Amino acid sequence: MANILILYDSDTGHTAKMAEYVAEGAKKYSVNVRVLSVDEASKEDILWCDGIAVGSPTYLGLLSWKMKKFWDDMVDLWGKIDGKIGCAFSSSGGWGGGNELACMSILTVLMNYGFLVFGVTDYVGDKFTLHYGAVTAGEPRREEEIEACRRLGERLAQWVLIYVDGKKEYLEEIKNREI
Ligand SMILES: Cc1cc2nc3c(=O)[nH]c(=O)nc-3n(C[C@H](O)[C@H](O)[C@H](O)COP(=O)(O)O)c2cc1C
Repeated sequence: MANILILYDSDTGHTAKMAEYVAEGAKKYSVNVRVLSVDEASKEDILWCDGIAVGSPTYLGLLSWKMKKFWDDMVDLWGKIDGKIGCAFSSSGGWGGGNELACMSILTVLMNYGFLVFGVTDYVGDKFTLHYGAVTAGEPRREEEIEACRRLGERLAQWVLIYVDGKKEYLEEIKNREI
């Protein structure tokens, strides 16, 4: 069975809540799921996973220093972990506060390790989507914010099943979905 890691940093708990919803989405599929904070995760967890969702609070429009340091410290794995599937999520203080930029900075880090990163085109509510990853202002409260997190986990599981487990039927599931 394919392995999915939900890795997050969170100081006041908002991104941690997002991580739980991302995991909820991934668990709808036949995959192993680990949810770990950046303080708990190790190199073994990175080696273990086939797909990863990385979440960070938006700090100055970027990922947190802790999350950046985690990946800086992973540099001896550089060139050895290419091809994992990655995506991002972030909680900011407010809309317009840079949560999508923070997602992009996470995706930049993952790309540097040779990961295959993706966005999600689905609408999960009225004028609410997750093109660069799931984003919230504060903790996920509204149904569409929660659904964005779940959808990210679902899509990660689907891509991992397609590309890692060779289950092409999930490609049809994605192509035929309602958006
Ligand atoms: C150092 C620092 C920088 C921050 N920078 C931003 C920012 O650029 N934009 C924003 O909207 N919120 C910013 N915030 C607010 C956090 O992104 C927000 O409170 C977030 O929900 C915290 O997530 P957490 O509960 O997972 O720690 C910042 C907070 C801190 C402590």
